[in-house]
Order: sequence, then structure tokens, then C-alpha cells
Amino acid sequence: MRINHTGEICAQALYAGQAATARNPEVKDDMQKASDEEIDHLAWCEQRLEELDSRPSLLNPFWYASSYAIGAIAGAAGDGWSLGFLKETENQVEAHLQDHLDQLPPEDARTHAILGQMKIDEAKHADMAEDAGAFDLPAPIKDLMSLTSKVMKVVAYRI
Ligand SMILES: [Fe+2]
Ligand SMILES: [Fe+2]
Repeated sequence: MRINHTGEICAQALYAGQAATARNPEVKDDMQKASDEEIDHLAWCEQRLEELDSRPSLLNPFWYASSYAIGAIAGAAGDGWSLGFLKETENQVEAHLQDHLDQLPPEDARTHAILGQMKIDEAKHADMAEDAGAFDLPAPIKDLMSLTSKVMKVVAYRI
């Protein structure tokens, strides 16, 4: 759950960074809306962490700052690429959430409900990006994103 919480910090920061450098005002709005919805997800994860007597990652300020910077760079690359980046992020988050849902004990209904709703919302974000004209990112960039999120998961699990 700490990984999910850090993931939502990253998503929120990425999209805020992307909104800051977006060119088209509609794309800026879409990015900002997605970023705001990630804040809801963040609140749900934070609450669940507390209920489980756990704590968020101590490195969250670092995750936020680096994600915001990456988002701003993605935004500066142009709206089509930036939307493509958002879509790919959401696709990878959805796959991770499905993975986590598969591993959850079936009796943990509360976590199931939270992750299930998040997965629905992330799919909507990906569709939004697609409808707004997302470019398909080159495979090496997708691989790099997936590698980065793997590093984040390993570190956030521990610290
Ligand atoms: Fe989210
Ligand atoms: Fe999302």
C-alpha cells in the first residue's frame, strides 16, 4: 500500500508538471483534472495505510520533486508526446494495480474496493489522453518508464 501511495504522489506530480508546461489550454485542463483526481487516490491510500498501522515512504518529497521535473520535461516535448506519456503511465499503473489486486487476500475487502476504484479511474485517464490525441511513445521510452517505476517500487517498499 505504501507503493500505491508513492505511485499516486508521482502521478499527481507528473501531471501537475505536465499541466505547467502544456501548450493547448484544453490539454492543460485535462492534465490538471487528472492530477486532481490523483490527489483523491492519494487520500484513499493514505487513509488505508493508517488503518493498517503503516506509514508513507519517507522519500515522498524526493518522489514528488523528481516526478514534477519529469512531468515538466514531458510537457515541454509537446502536447501529443505529453499525452502519450500520461497514457503509458496509466497503462502501467493499471497493470500494477491488477497485479496487486491478484495478490491481495480475498478477505481484505476494503483494499480491494480502493484499488478497484483507482483502476477504473486510471483507465479513464488513459482514455482521456487517447481521445485528446496522445502519440504512441517509442518502445525504449516505455521500457525506461517501467524500469523507473520498478526502482521506485523496490525503494518505496523499504524506505
Ligand atoms: Fe491514481
Ligand atoms: Fe490516473
